[in-house]
Amino acid sequence: MSATTLDRPRARGEGPSDPEVQAHLKTGLRNRWYPVLPSRFVEISGKPLGITRLGERIVLWRDATGVVRVQSDRCPHRAVPLSKGMNEGDRIRCAYHGVEIGADGTVLAVPGQPGCALEGKKAVKTYPSFELAEAIWVWFGDALHAEAPPFNPPEQLAGGEFSTFCCYADWRASWRYIYDNLMDPMHGAFLHANSHSMSQGETSARFVTRDTEKGFFFEKDGQRNVNFDWSEFLDDGALMVRLEIPYPRTGGPGGNFGIVSVITPIDETNSACFFWRFRKVQGWVRDTWRFLYRTKLEPRHWHVLEQDREMLDGVGLGLERGEMLYQHDAGLMRLRRYLARQARLQMVALHEAGVG
Ligand code: FES
Ligand SMILES: [Fe+2]
Repeated sequence: MSATTLDRPRARGEGPSDPEVQAHLKTGLRNRWYPVLPSRFVEISGKPLGITRLGERIVLWRDATGVVRVQSDRCPHRAVPLSKGMNEGDRIRCAYHGVEIGADGTVLAVPGQPGCALEGKKAVKTYPSFELAEAIWVWFGDALHAEAPPFNPPEQLAGGEFSTFCCYADWRASWRYIYDNLMDPMHGAFLHANSHSMSQGETSARFVTRDTEKGFFFEKDGQRNVNFDWSEFLDDGALMVRLEIPYPRTGGPGGNFGIVSVITPIDETNSACFFWRFRKVQGWVRDTWRFLYRTKLEPRHWHVLEQDREMLDGVGLGLERGEMLYQHDAGLMRLRRYLARQARLQMVALHEAGVG
């Protein structure tokens, strides 16, 4: 279904209340793929890594063949973190009493009591996962969607014509406020006015929205390719925001500089932020761009991101209660309605199936 059909206002008596929906959304919208960590953080046969994403404790380990495994970070014996255990190449061994868990979550051995009933049980939740664009992606499905559909990445993340850098940072803010920031192009002309790429263009504008098959554009009316002039929300297996920033000639080859963002909730007030910076470049031009990025541009980009992070740093939940929004905020308002609608549909489905 498209964004157009799903962000319509809620009909009276339809499903859960608004506060219930907002509570449901606090740790993220389910039934989507989320990047959880850059691939480089998890080494072959390295120590298991325990992290929290969407409010769930998960353990990541890379087996001896190089495949990343993602499982619930809880030993089936006494429920202590498996991430404190050892990576044995094809299994993970709990540090507490040595119980061994296979890559599919089956208990392979209970060394303290061989043959006990725990052996052979599929006792640890295993999350569907894959690696793409230098990151580990994990499926967070609800009780009705344990199986993950395949992910068709946007072309910018699929390799090919685009060259990307995966930029990752943890922010002390709810994932939803960071998406709000991404759907607010106007802040570029103010917050980032001193940056090398966002000093141009009008400081007042009128915005319009434009539907797409999988989301919508929120863009300045009558100004394109001057500043951060538009954002595109995209819900296609993952919640993504795509945007482009025009570059001065000193920014090197490849035309506009683009960003694909996915914000993964850690918990209610912390988020793992992924920003893939891309340009459409191939061959020697690609090499030039990558060299230029690493040597000159990257610190400037971190500086701009830092300005965004500081705006949102530590703002607690409930920010909305103090807002007085105007027309420039129509993009984030639409996104909020869309997410609420999606969450409501999921809650209704779970309720009807008796698992909500
Ligand atoms: S708690 Fe893990 S083996 Fe006992
Ligand atoms: Fe920004």
